[in-house]
Amino acid sequence: MLSAAQPLTPQQITDLQQCAAKAAHNAYAPYSHFRVGAAVLLSDSTIVTGCNVENASYRLTTCAEQNAITSAVAQHGPAIRIRAIAIANLNSAASQPCGACRQTIHEFSTPDTVIYFPNADGSFSHATIAELLPAAFLLNK
Ligand code: THU
Repeated sequence: MLSAAQPLTPQQITDLQQCAAKAAHNAYAPYSHFRVGAAVLLSDSTIVTGCNVENASYRLTTCAEQNAITSAVAQHGPAIRIRAIAIANLNSAASQPCGACRQTIHEFSTPDTVIYFPNADGSFSHATIAELLPAAFLLNK
């Protein structure tokens, strides 16, 4: 098995992005019409997906990334580590993870965790979670 620090191959990145795009088709987004999918690649090479699920009480909306990560924990347990996460939307728009999702990704990340996200022109960019959330909240009590 590849170590966590091993870069993903182009094929693995494409596979993960396609899983995210497929998951976006399940989005429940009758309010924003912004359909998002996320695919999480775990350190054991398992892929778990999620989509956004909105609510008439708007603030109860669950983002695709949070949906994927909570599903990953539910299916694989609390020790999961995220090797990479791909985000897609069906709106041909740029979509980086929101602040709350960055904190959720951080909770299960390693220093090498990479996020792949779409740009407005259809290309993808990537960044580490440390780059996207350089000052994550840590519970020190
Ligand atoms: N959304 C996500 O699924 N992930 C993000 O990181 C940002 C926003 C969703 C929430 C809502 O259903 C829609 O996109 C518009 O904000």
